[in-house]
Amino acid sequence: MLTTIQEIYQSAEKLSQQEKIKVGGWVKSPIRQDKFIEINDGSCLKNLQLVCSPDLAEELKKINFNSSLIVSGKLILTPERTQSCELQIQQIEFINPVIEENYPLQKKNIPLKVVRDYPHLRAKTNYFLALFRLRHSVSKSIHEFFHQEGFYYVATPIITSNDAEGAGELFNVTTENKEPFFSKPGKLTVSGQLHAEALVQGLGKVYTFSPCFRAEKSHTTRHLAEFWMVEAEIAFIGLEEVINLVEKMIKKIINNLLINNILELEYFENYNQKEIITKLKKIVSADFKKVDYGESVKILDSASNQKKFVFNDIKWGMNLQSEHEKYLCQHFSGPVFITNYPADLKAFYMKNNPDGKTAACFDLLLPTIGELVGGSIREDSYQTLQEKADKQNLNTGGLSWYLDLRKTGYAPSGGFGLGLERLIMFLSGTENIRDTIAFPRYPHHLEF
Ligand code: 4AD
Ligand code: MG
Repeated sequence: MLTTIQEIYQSAEKLSQQEKIKVGGWVKSPIRQDKFIEINDGSCLKNLQLVCSPDLAEELKKINFNSSLIVSGKLILTPERTQSCELQIQQIEFINPVIEENYPLQKKNIPLKVVRDYPHLRAKTNYFLALFRLRHSVSKSIHEFFHQEGFYYVATPIITSNDAEGAGELFNVTTENKEPFFSKPGKLTVSGQLHAEALVQGLGKVYTFSPCFRAEKSHTTRHLAEFWMVEAEIAFIGLEEVINLVEKMIKKIINNLLINNILELEYFENYNQKEIITKLKKIVSADFKKVDYGESVKILDSASNQKKFVFNDIKWGMNLQSEHEKYLCQHFSGPVFITNYPADLKAFYMKNNPDGKTAACFDLLLPTIGELVGGSIREDSYQTLQEKADKQNLNTGGLSWYLDLRKTGYAPSGGFGLGLERLIMFLSGTENIRDTIAFPRYPHHLEF
């Protein structure tokens, strides 16, 4: 077994007492001064310095940036230097150089946009090492959070016959020869919510964490055709409680990062996100703002007098554009929950408020990225639900199982969905959502 670089930095003193250890990785800094090489093995952000004797230097001169390498040698403590230890190579066990002539990652500091064309090579860059480490930690915190809160992790289907959001952004699932495979046309899921709603009737608190698919043609920096969504559903809950749960979860994720991933956050801070750590500390230390949709329209209206927006026709009933969402976050200097949107703007399953105009729902908006979470209390009246589905031209025949839940001892429920990639954008300061997932899917791109 190889010793990882993370283990080396964690237990350098103990490992320095061993005669020999074996380390493998990819070369991040080819040989300098005929003796120093740096490698990284993906186990942490820090590289390990290798030192070689003159007789090995000749062979090691052949290796280039990102070659893979295994060496064995003695770990030496070097507390007086910038790195606390280094490995003196005794033997080269394996070398495999980069032989591709047009290897695109040869230069340092290649823009993310360029690296995006080579997703199969992105793991070799420092940016994506930091990003994938962050994404891993965030996913772990999400599971931990729900486990501590007494939720069941359930699997909702990827292939379904329902359009859960009624927005008509479905991908079809067919066989190679296009012959019917299922009893109904199959679709890739846009959200696991409807199935989670069925499971919560009996399990009480459930969450799903899985890919969702939306054929959104929009070429924006915050939409993907395949993204990961965390969705929670809770029986016997009110809107305020759902909102508080979202806030608690986001604070838990950030607190864990501040404890366990400070090196990654520092990396992003140095890369392009000045003061990201201060910003995250501020977010966990203050209550998120909560504002009614009607109130937020008034705030936007005042700003529109100074012609702050491209879409400047501000009135009740309008959809909030991304520029409006960003303005509201600036206005409140942080995350803000907008509640009770006009029911006509929102999905059919959201419960109507007694005013007959608005729905018991919310979006959580974050500075720079806009909408991160959408949630609501679900319509509990069979008849109202059917009317709303009909109004949005949804096939209620296909949704009869979902409507029937209201007739079988229904416990009112509520929940939310959070887009993982948007959260990663925010936490890392990544400007384009396509740089927050290993193999991004978006219009006109499916090379990998
Ligand atoms: O607001 P949305 O559409 O809500 C739902 O899907 C509900 N069924 C959730 C629920 O109550 N269970 O999506 C939720 C979140 C958005 O706020 C956004 O963060 C993310 O999912 N999202 C996307 N992320 C990347 N690319 C896309 N095309 C996205 N569409 C939604
Ligand atoms: Mg939404």
